[in-house]
Amino acid sequence: MATKIDKLKNIIGVDSILNKIQDLDILLETILSEARGVLSADAGSIYIKVDNELVVTYSQNDTKAAELKPGQKLIYNVFRIPIGTGTTSGYAAMTGDIINVRNVYDIPEDAPYGFDPYYDRKSGYRTVSTLSIPLKTNMGDILGVLQLINKKDTLGRSIAFSKDDELVAAHFATNATMALQRAQMTRAILLRMTRMAELRDPKETGTHVNRVAGYALEIYERWANRNRRPRHEIDRTRDTLRMAAMLHDVGKVAISDTILKKPGRLDEAEREVMKTHTWQGARLFTDRQSEFDEIAQQVALSHHEHWDGTGYPGHVDTVTGEPVKKNVKGRAVGKRGEEIDIFGRIVSIADVFDALRSNRVYKAAWSDEDSIREIRGLAGTKFDPDLVSDFIAVLPSIQTVSDKFSEEPSEPPADPEG
Ligand code: C2E
Ligand code: SIN
Ligand code: SIN
Ligand code: SIN
Ligand code: FE
Ligand code: FE
Repeated sequence: MATKIDKLKNIIGVDSILNKIQDLDILLETILSEARGVLSADAGSIYIKVDNELVVTYSQNDTKAAELKPGQKLIYNVFRIPIGTGTTSGYAAMTGDIINVRNVYDIPEDAPYGFDPYYDRKSGYRTVSTLSIPLKTNMGDILGVLQLINKKDTLGRSIAFSKDDELVAAHFATNATMALQRAQMTRAILLRMTRMAELRDPKETGTHVNRVAGYALEIYERWANRNRRPRHEIDRTRDTLRMAAMLHDVGKVAISDTILKKPGRLDEAEREVMKTHTWQGARLFTDRQSEFDEIAQQVALSHHEHWDGTGYPGHVDTVTGEPVKKNVKGRAVGKRGEEIDIFGRIVSIADVFDALRSNRVYKAAWSDEDSIREIRGLAGTKFDPDLVSDFIAVLPSIQTVSDKFSEEPSEPPADPEG
């Protein structure tokens, strides 16, 4: 039987999405290369602790990189190292101490760690000096190890790391630790948010949010290719947009059940309350620390704006929901056209298409044909017309996403009008 956590993991998509928040990737790569630059280390790795092992997550080697043919990728020596005695990095992770080794081929027999020459033989690289610094939190938890290899003197010869080098490396290790902690926090918050949304609406299986995210990605890729966005930007944005799109309605956790689950049309006052789910959701991402927070905030905030300016919530303060740009009636002026964030415009189409095709407490599902016709008919008024063209162009992929995350067949509400 799938546990609750398994289910949540399925809702998010795959573990790897969460385990690889792109901002963290870039940050840790940068920290590693800066540490190597400052300390003149030819190579280095960052290992992340997973259960009782260290997993190589980032690896750089100038000498090996120079030998690569174009397009070839660096093959890591070791993928997993047990935490404990045996290796220098495993020992650093176990003890929490910095391990500075002058020459790995001269480690005394009785030392609690050693070096396996197998890895050098396999890669054709000669390791001499290593400096392994545990990534230790203020609470004393070990998150991983930063390892620098082969300090070079001005003539390019491998020499030992000094006591001063240990201090400098420790500074970079602190930065890496903080980056990892931030990412863990973001992941924890994301999991909590999906759990919250799930608790609010037990009938939601997660297929709906997965479909909206899947549709949004297809539209985004088409838009990005059409606008000749670089491949690395598209790849980086995909993971982020998927999570952000899944959370587009997270603000609904702030809406009372009487309104959220009302089996019929909402009245005027109820609709006004319902509209607050946009900025209430956006509010969760106001401490914008990463690209993810930024995109998630824009998506939550602007997925109900209309291209012609008639949507909501318009120009409002994301914390209070108060208008920051008012019309003559004192209400917030709607955002229009490209004032609306590109990701908001994309998710808007994905969301409405899926809402139309699905049963809701207040309506029965529409056919695919009718739903597509509706989206097409709203190009230029509700939706960005270029994005509607993108949506139409990727309909086959949208169908694939829809099949992949299809719901159990369910009955339409008995009395949609309540
Ligand atoms: P939702 O059910 O996920 O719907 C998302 C959006 O899809 C709606 O945004 C609307 O733009 C579109 N949509 C859904 N059903 C229809 C439809 O039958 N015809 C057309 N033309 N468009 C449709 P909207 O209207 O701003 O609503 C936002 C959310 O407010 C909805 O999310 C739903 O949770 C709630 N809601 C809206 N109207 C009602 C209602 O009459 N009764 C209840 N109980 N909830 C409602
Ligand atoms: C769910 O539909 O169960 C999860 C909701 C969300 O991720 O916002
Ligand atoms: C963007 O480049 O993020 C926005 C482009 C657009 O408004 O279509
Ligand atoms: C829901 O969570 O009930 C619907 C979300 C959506 O249509 O985007
Ligand atoms: Fe919404
Ligand atoms: Fe929605």
